[in-house]
Amino acid sequence: MQGKTILLIVGGGIAAFKSLELVRELRRAGVRVTPVLTENGARFVTPLSLGALAEAPVRTSLWDLEAEASMGHIQLSRSADLIVVCPATADLMARAATGQADDLASTLLLATDTPVLMVPAMNVRMWEHPATVRNIATLRRDGIDVMEPDVGEMACGEFGPGRLPQVPAIMAAIDLALDDFDFAERPGPNRWLAGKTAIVTAGPTHEAIDPVRFLGNRSSGKQGFAIAAALAHHGVDVRLIAGPVDLPTPHGVKRTDVVSAADMAAAVAERLPADIAVMVAAVADWRVEKAPGKLKKSAAGPPLLQLVENPDILATTGHSTQRPRLVIGFAAETGDLLDNAAAKLARKGADWIVANDVSHGIFGADDTHVHLVTAKGSEDWGPSSKDTVAHRLALRIADVFCPDKERPDPDAD
Ligand code: CTP
Repeated sequence: MQGKTILLIVGGGIAAFKSLELVRELRRAGVRVTPVLTENGARFVTPLSLGALAEAPVRTSLWDLEAEASMGHIQLSRSADLIVVCPATADLMARAATGQADDLASTLLLATDTPVLMVPAMNVRMWEHPATVRNIATLRRDGIDVMEPDVGEMACGEFGPGRLPQVPAIMAAIDLALDDFDFAERPGPNRWLAGKTAIVTAGPTHEAIDPVRFLGNRSSGKQGFAIAAALAHHGVDVRLIAGPVDLPTPHGVKRTDVVSAADMAAAVAERLPADIAVMVAAVADWRVEKAPGKLKKSAAGPPLLQLVENPDILATTGHSTQRPRLVIGFAAETGDLLDNAAAKLARKGADWIVANDVSHGIFGADDTHVHLVTAKGSEDWGPSSKDTVAHRLALRIADVFCPDKERPDPDAD
């Protein structure tokens, strides 16, 4: 995103102070920020702090004649590569959805032909209110990308969806919007995969040795959860089968928790048929016969663990009579990345393999470096966050199910 310009509209909500952190991250990434503060936004952050961090003058009023002389609001609205509204309040989104232009922010949003990304933050009841749901559907239909808010405890003490997403997630969405998300070409990004179903596996599996011990691995589940979230964001009905991980369920995702590979295999089989399968879990390749009681130390020496191979869930799905139209696997490799991934593609009956080199501590990290391997060859997606990989993958999936000619009618509900 280096060298790009973002017009940042800061709305009036308690989350407005987090926009300062976003500005700092954007500046660190080499992005020019043109800040616009709404009248209510100025109740939460001062123009001075916003302008100091952005290293640019803050625009607050439509009637700033001096600035109008040098750059009118029309030009201002079109001078950026992307407009980001953060936080996007219920009121600001309602006004944008109905095309009002009664202050600088709403006028800019109406006058622009630049892609817009909205980052909502509001009370859970406001988020779930039919009026807000309607307004967001309208905005998305108009081609505006509205992020899903985080789920959690709110400043007002209530719990649910409505919290501003974490700054790294906003940065990933901005990165994607600037990189290869052609908003003009793809109105209503969140509807591309509506009506499709996906099974996503994530996290490790634990194979019991006895009632207190298990065989496991270092998978955090972050990549699988990010993919489940990205697919849900694009309208997919996602069934997430999660191994033992400590992660919140992404908004709109149906989650089933499992422990062992056998449980995961059964949960996947139960949820077929589906349109898409994305097998991200680091399934344990072997299990042992579980001892009924805790294994004790004895004079006879340590117990010998007899390993038995687990079912391969990806291969079973890839060769199933109920095979999803698109089967995607992951490959964790410590050498010969592309050759091993290509071999897995054929062996497991997958359409794509997302290959990553795990020799440099990708397990548990927020960042990764993957290659997409298909029958046609491989693409290096470069170093990026796991969220960015998830969104890129979701867009590629949308390309399969919704090529240009078959786009849904943007006016249909
Ligand atoms: N996988 C699976 N079931 C298994 C093992 C792996 O579904 N029992 C899936 C993973 O979810 C991933 C892909 O297969 O999508 C590749 O996993 P990986 O651990 O890289 O490969 P392995 O099958 O273990 O092969 P190898 O031992 O050669 O690395």
